[in-house]
Amino acid sequence: MQETIKNRTIFCKDNLDILEGINTETIDLVYLDPPFNKKKVFTAPIGTSAEGASFKDIFTEADLKEEWVQEIREDWPNVYELLNAVKNIEGRSSYNFCYLAYMAIRLIECHRVLKNTGSVYLHCDATMSHYLKLLLDCIFGEKNFKNEIVWCYTGPSNTKRYYPRKHDSLFFYVKNAQDNYIFNTQAIKIPYAKLETGKTGGIFKQAATLHKAGKIPEDWWEENRDNMTPVGRIQTERTGYPTQKPLALLERIIKASSSEGDVVLDPFCGCATTCVAAERLSRRWIGIDVSVKAYELVQERIRNMYEIRQGKLEEGELSKTYFSTTAPTRTDDGANAKDQKYVYIISHPQYEGEYKVGIASDVKSRLSSYQTSDPNRDYKLEYKQLTEHYRALERHIHNQFDSRQEWVRAEMQEIINAMKSYRP
Ligand SMILES: C[S@@+](CC[C@H](N)C(=O)[O-])C[C@H]1O[C@@H](n2cnc3c(N)ncnc32)[C@H](O)[C@@H]1O
Repeated sequence: MQETIKNRTIFCKDNLDILEGINTETIDLVYLDPPFNKKKVFTAPIGTSAEGASFKDIFTEADLKEEWVQEIREDWPNVYELLNAVKNIEGRSSYNFCYLAYMAIRLIECHRVLKNTGSVYLHCDATMSHYLKLLLDCIFGEKNFKNEIVWCYTGPSNTKRYYPRKHDSLFFYVKNAQDNYIFNTQAIKIPYAKLETGKTGGIFKQAATLHKAGKIPEDWWEENRDNMTPVGRIQTERTGYPTQKPLALLERIIKASSSEGDVVLDPFCGCATTCVAAERLSRRWIGIDVSVKAYELVQERIRNMYEIRQGKLEEGELSKTYFSTTAPTRTDDGANAKDQKYVYIISHPQYEGEYKVGIASDVKSRLSSYQTSDPNRDYKLEYKQLTEHYRALERHIHNQFDSRQEWVRAEMQEIINAMKSYRP
């Protein structure tokens, strides 16, 4: 793990600041359980361990930073197009745009910090799941999608005009399906159901031909079969933290998609369920939450865990958890990459005398994203200039010449000269 981050740290800060300080390709598993855009505020009940915890699940223009949209436009044009498409959907589309931009900029960082063999699980519900799936397809690649896991449960409901909404969705993507990503089937097997074993007129196979160790659970997980009752009804687990998830759900994910000693990251850790599950399974972990309750609760929950498991707490055991409000510093090569980007000139023979002038951190992948829209792959990179004043330079070129959206009409050499001679 990166030397600027200790194992068992809870960061109390906006997760974007923390994610930006994590080295590229250093995390094995990311589980995110973000606000779902439910348009309400969640508050812990009085008298519970989590009393005082609350979080806002409402997104408006006030939660959106222009620099996120700029960054997405420059580095992830496909995500930018998707976000703009959302704006055209009838209903609460402008708020949905704000929520999705907030999620996109964080998912892009999660993608960067994941190892090539790593996985991500995004927990959400039908409020935004269909939009989030598209976002994940753009960022992680559709080919890296593995499952939509449905966690279904029962509970009180007063709906009269539609079916009670009693399931969550978890999108499981790997960083690179071609790499040897971790998926430990033996660790998560469950017994076959009676109907499958043939005992009650089984429909599949005879009991003897079924695998003794059981089966890999299907992509639907259920409170009784999988012991994943909503936490409000599990007295031994309930902290009172709003939207707390069951340990069994996190344990299955961690067992399947990481190995002992691997690093598990939860950027929206709440009452630190992921951290506790990772601790129980001997993984290293990092939790992030804007609420300080996360640290108080992880200490309490880990203390209980050791007391229950080992009879008593070992000397100094609690000092094993760390708390920080300071973002870590990246120590890898790309540490300063964020400060500089390329302004490029790209040509296409069909548009003589016109050039695309834009910004990208990675010009090669920008060029290849243009090529996908051209069967002849005729786009050509003519020139690129690395600068920390990339926005001002791009604006300067578009202002100086006749320009239409990203296209500039001028002699190429004139554009290059103007770029070279530009002084901020
Ligand atoms: C749905 S809850 C997570 C619950 C958690 N899975 C558990 O089992 O307790 C979402 C959490 O995200 C936190 N949060 C919201 N926005 C955040 C941000 N930008 N950075 C860090 N944490 C954030 C909230 O404080 C809240 O605790």
